[in-house]
Amino acid sequence: MLLRPRRLRQSKAIRDLVQENNLSVNDFIYPLFIKDEKNAYEEIAAMPGIFRFGIERLLSEVEELLSLGIKAIALFPITPNELKNYQAIESYNANNLTCKAIREIKKRFPEMLIMSDVALDPYTDHGHDGLLAKGKVLNDETVDVLKKMALVQAAAGADILGPSDMMDGRVKAIRTALETEGFKDTMLMSYTAKYASSLYTPFRDAMGTENYHIDEKIPKDKKTYQMNPSNSLEALKELELDLEEGADMVMIKPAGWYLDIIHQTKKNSKVPVVAYQVSGEYSMILAAVSAGLTVREKAIYESLISIKRAGADIILSYFAKELFSM
Ligand code: PBG
Repeated sequence: MLLRPRRLRQSKAIRDLVQENNLSVNDFIYPLFIKDEKNAYEEIAAMPGIFRFGIERLLSEVEELLSLGIKAIALFPITPNELKNYQAIESYNANNLTCKAIREIKKRFPEMLIMSDVALDPYTDHGHDGLLAKGKVLNDETVDVLKKMALVQAAAGADILGPSDMMDGRVKAIRTALETEGFKDTMLMSYTAKYASSLYTPFRDAMGTENYHIDEKIPKDKKTYQMNPSNSLEALKELELDLEEGADMVMIKPAGWYLDIIHQTKKNSKVPVVAYQVSGEYSMILAAVSAGLTVREKAIYESLISIKRAGADIILSYFAKELFSM
């Protein structure tokens, strides 16, 4: 007797019936870039279809996202150069752009779940995620600033904080600060395994954060804190620590070239696993589409269903809006 797996592929109906993974709008977080200019609406050159929004435009965008069924967003603020400095003091200004945007969105659309990034790169003049001294990124001093930053965001009404900096001990420090200050319900989605990847270039262009040239002593990459792409055991170590330190959800970033890490994280964790399909993944797919090398809807779908199949429960993706507008 011949075994015939093709029996289960013979029609769309049976294929749909036996399909193992699906993309649900419930599982997506949509990243948004924000700018301190009321009506700004600027397309990002490296990321066609993605914009920098002023607060007014942001509110109409949020309304549209809710109408599509998208219930969670992540905010990334573009900080004007004059507010950036070595100490990243704007990061914990309770009236900074992120906090203002959170308050405005919550006022109009309290049901929208807001995640905000906790890292210093939008606020340091050099673009590193930490404070620098003598050409080195300082860990504990940075964590002290991250705590203050987390508290102003929580006070503004952020539902989920996403520490994206990879400093040691920051999840515990932020969790403790939140508990102490009465923000018991604020969730932590830790960037647990964030790799020193080539795939963040469009994001850094959009944000204006790669300013390593301002001084020759500034490290030219993030390899002393973001992870080495060759490593996977290290991701499991970071996972163990983040869970001990009180992360509610754990994230792997980037997604598409790190499916093995997503898979291993899912196997080893009892909390939701999140994957971030980053800017470079978005831009590369669209570049391939423009070059006529692939078909837009199919490439988008396949890239995302692969992340799901690997084990992600939740996906951050710049394609989320397009996917659920189709
Ligand atoms: C920085 C941060 C980065 C991204 C999100 N938060 C870039 C970096 O580490 O330099 C990248 C997201 C993307 O590429 O879409 N804390």
